[in-house]
Amino acid sequence: MQHTLAALPYDMDSLEPFLTQQTLFYHHEKHHAGYINKLNALITGTEYEEMSLEYIITQSDGAIFNNAAQTFNHNFYWNCLSPVATTPSDALLRKITEVFGSMEKFKEAFLNAALTNFGSGWTWLVLDQHEHLKILNTSNAQTPIAHNEIPLLTCDVWEHAYYLDYKNERAKYLDGFWEHINWENASKVFADKEHLNTIGLYAIVNNDPDDSMSDYLDELQRAEEISS
Ligand SMILES: [Fe+2]
Repeated sequence: MQHTLAALPYDMDSLEPFLTQQTLFYHHEKHHAGYINKLNALITGTEYEEMSLEYIITQSDGAIFNNAAQTFNHNFYWNCLSPVATTPSDALLRKITEVFGSMEKFKEAFLNAALTNFGSGWTWLVLDQHEHLKILNTSNAQTPIAHNEIPLLTCDVWEHAYYLDYKNERAKYLDGFWEHINWENASKVFADKEHLNTIGLYAIVNNDPDDSMSDYLDELQRAEEISS
């Protein structure tokens, strides 16, 4: 199975001035595409060739893991951004308030985690296996789905995500990121967490091509296209 680069769920210039068309072009068409091309080359003729992307992530290490995880992480990241302002559902807002004290305190904690995530990596809001909501920093290609945690939100803090627009000033990129979070996407995943727990993650472990998280994320993307 060859993995393919999905189109961005919005126009390449629609996040300006937060992220310029040039940044999105290099990030999506060069970096993200590069991971997918390398993954396809690495898995050709191997046991990984017929596996779903998520199953490869749970079964591999080294270069195959890195390129598969980066493919998934970027697929997810694009859906975490929105050109228009969005708000979290009442249920997600309630949960965030319960865990972090307030949305403002969550913002402070999430952005501080992203700012201090050393080197290249990702900052996440996840539900762990006990359905605890938590902020998580991962390094390089590491991804929560390798550890059966459900990502609701992620911020790419690799320099390639912001360097053309912000140079070394990650904090300015993070301020813009906060204003462009797609809370509707996070809310949909949160609302369907039981589905993901019982079907999505189960499918990852069992490599069921008919019911995987990528199908679910595709559904989310299609629903957003219909509603926009
Ligand atoms: Fe990236």
